[in-house]
Amino acid sequence: MDYLTVLNEELSPELRKEFARLEELFTVNTEMLKKITRRFGEELEQGLREDRQNIPMNLTWVTSLPTGHEKGTFLTLDLGGTNLRVCLITLDTPGQPDVVQQKYKLSEHLKTGSADELFDFMADSLQVFLEQHPHQTKQWDKESPLPLGFTFSYPATQERIDHGVLQTWTKGWDVKDVEGHDVAEMLRKAIQKRDLPIKLFALVNDTTGALIASAYNDPETIIGAIFGTGCNAAYMEKQKNIPKMARYPSAAGNSKTKSNTTGNPETDRGDNGAELMAINCEYGAFDNSHSVLPRTRYDELIDEESPRPGEQTFEKMSAGLYLGEIFRLVLVELRDRGVIFQKNGSPAGRASRGEVNGSKVPTQGLDDAYALDTEFLSLVENDESPNLIESCNVFEAHLHHADLPTIPISPSREELLFFRRIAQLIAIRGARLCACGVSAICQRLGVDKGHVAADGSVAIKHPHFKTRWEKAVAEILDIEYGRIALTSAEDGSGIGAAVIAALTLKSDGSNNL
Ligand code: GLC
Repeated sequence: MDYLTVLNEELSPELRKEFARLEELFTVNTEMLKKITRRFGEELEQGLREDRQNIPMNLTWVTSLPTGHEKGTFLTLDLGGTNLRVCLITLDTPGQPDVVQQKYKLSEHLKTGSADELFDFMADSLQVFLEQHPHQTKQWDKESPLPLGFTFSYPATQERIDHGVLQTWTKGWDVKDVEGHDVAEMLRKAIQKRDLPIKLFALVNDTTGALIASAYNDPETIIGAIFGTGCNAAYMEKQKNIPKMARYPSAAGNSKTKSNTTGNPETDRGDNGAELMAINCEYGAFDNSHSVLPRTRYDELIDEESPRPGEQTFEKMSAGLYLGEIFRLVLVELRDRGVIFQKNGSPAGRASRGEVNGSKVPTQGLDDAYALDTEFLSLVENDESPNLIESCNVFEAHLHHADLPTIPISPSREELLFFRRIAQLIAIRGARLCACGVSAICQRLGVDKGHVAADGSVAIKHPHFKTRWEKAVAEILDIEYGRIALTSAEDGSGIGAAVIAALTLKSDGSNNL
């Protein structure tokens, strides 16, 4: 393939053969991308019609885009994969929000423990934040509480903007007794227990946050997307195209529907006068019925070993949480078949450090699920150090098993080149699949130009993601490369939640902050 940079001649015939096999498995050509995108379009449509489809197309009750002139001071709480982030955001000068933030480390235990532990931790962090920032927060009290936007990046059924019943945990989370419950209410109770002067106004998905935060500055924004631990997108849909909306109590008489609009007919309506609704697609669940995605045995294994087998099929093939794990599973298989890690290689520098050569490589560390993350994959692919010494070091660091005596794992140079090509294959497949979801939304909206505002570790940190993704979108939509461009919505979850809280307060008529 023309986009693979390592020359074939550098690999032995055996590794070349293995590579050809993997290349066939992981390559998604243009025709296939188009087929996946067509099916994607159908599933988006089904999700707007009925509940309980593969793609849930969740209503968010954000019914307008911001003007950029929203004002006020807001607290935001973002439950991310690694950290819990609390921000105090002041919107005053258009386009220049003032942000004071603090991160609190989320332990692994909290992701799979009890609901009380999780919600107590969130409320405790809010309390600590207020205590740490007395000057900025002292003017709020129980009578006029600080408005809170809660970014909750999991699928939730919302009947109003300040409500959301968790449909299912995704991204490996598995906290007991939360699925089927209103997470906004659970947080509210934990806040009340501590008597904090805080009132939850909006529950926001990270994709909706990215969409609104970007639209606050950039009128070309069409979609907010996350390419990170998970993958998903949000966009503005015409309410008349959402048949299932009629079944929501809050849509009756449409009174609540309008409750968080800006009240400005210029901005609350689409160009043909239609009323709008931001949709959080939750398209990580695309193709849960396995009709179109070219799944490999590695994808199936990831699914089988996950806390929710059968769910998030698309996400498990394309999102950051899983790319490193796919790579690990490929290496485990090749090792078990005796193709790699048979002898400790001797990349330059290693022999002189007195390290063991010629011995069988101890790779028990490779058997630990999720031992290799996406950052690792990116490093292996993009290593420009002489003799790939950096890749070699990350292998040693990641695969060294704590219980074993210190024998470093030193893949040979040839193996490292081979791994680089596999890392490329997996990352390219991920980026190309990610292009399908957004292309299907563009086709729905009939747009072939605009900005997709993205946040997430893969979008922000992987050096080739943007180019690969934009190229694939252009292939699918038959447009000039770059017409649909990936822009950065870094920090969308904080600023987006604040702008949404501002829109909500404004339409309530209660924004006297
Ligand atoms: C998962 C979540 C979704 C979130 C995405 C990105 O797909 O279900 O709500 O937007 O990850 O964080």
